[in-house]
Amino acid sequence: MVTEPTKTKGGTTAPWTGRRAGGGGRIAQLAKRIRNAMAKIARNPVTALRVLLPRYGPFAAKAPDAEFRRAIRWSFGDLKRESLNAIFPGIEHIDVRVVRSYDREPLLSMTPSEVLAVGAMVRVLKPERILEIGTFEGNTTVNLAANAPSGARVFTLDLPPDWGRRYELDVPDIHFNAATGNHTGRQFIDTPHADGITQLWGDSAAFDWDEHSPFDFILIDGCHTYEYAVSDTRNALRVLRPGGAIVWHDYGMLEDVSRAVDECSREIRARAIRGTRLAVGFP
Ligand SMILES: C[S@@+](CC[C@H](N)C(=O)[O-])C[C@H]1O[C@@H](n2cnc3c(N)ncnc32)[C@H](O)[C@@H]1O
Repeated sequence: MVTEPTKTKGGTTAPWTGRRAGGGGRIAQLAKRIRNAMAKIARNPVTALRVLLPRYGPFAAKAPDAEFRRAIRWSFGDLKRESLNAIFPGIEHIDVRVVRSYDREPLLSMTPSEVLAVGAMVRVLKPERILEIGTFEGNTTVNLAANAPSGARVFTLDLPPDWGRRYELDVPDIHFNAATGNHTGRQFIDTPHADGITQLWGDSAAFDWDEHSPFDFILIDGCHTYEYAVSDTRNALRVLRPGGAIVWHDYGMLEDVSRAVDECSREIRARAIRGTRLAVGFP
């Protein structure tokens, strides 16, 4: 591993608080979220209905569990949901190693079944060079490394710890998801998997995608605006080896990501993985 974790004064790494880059206390954050939500509803009432009706409408499931409720918000995307077995025939024979299964931040990490699906795809495709956009705490990174063939290298990109809160592309407040604490990659730092992982720092719209290319498997899970999803996808298509695969996270749940993937699916073969927020593309 190339980078060191930044320690707090006491010498230990403090837990990441999940606070957004916009700053402010809890009440200010809540007020901002309500303001943003109202503005979004006013801008696009049809989309608002598509999101809110399944959650709160007369037929909404009774789900007093925030994580479970998120499942019924997967309302976007035109791709048919298909089982992983239909997309990768034979995958049922694959065993996957899942590392730190429940060391997750519910609103930011992938779910265990998504990590499992990514691990299975890596087992089947055997990529030697993997790129992940959006490291966060490194749960997916460490699982990519745990399932990649020996000698494979995983590159993972996130915004640097001293990031100046300025994205390269325009990002409305509602899409701020920068996890610029001192905890990026903490799940793989100081583990035996770290040797196979290279932490990269930068904004995905500005970083040099060519430097470590080509890649066999690229996972896109950074900033989730339409513009970033398109930009990351375009760059990924350019640096992917023939026969490689691109995986997008948040397909079906986030409108912007879903739109970008749907558009891309007119150019390349893309499939949505049932039971997850993953889509996979084969250029
Ligand atoms: C949803 S989290 C990634 C979760 C991670 N893939 C996992 O499964 O645990 C999104 C991450 O992308 C990073 N990010 C956001 N915008 C980015 C950008 N423009 N360039 C690079 N990373 C970005 C955030 O700092 C955050 O750590």
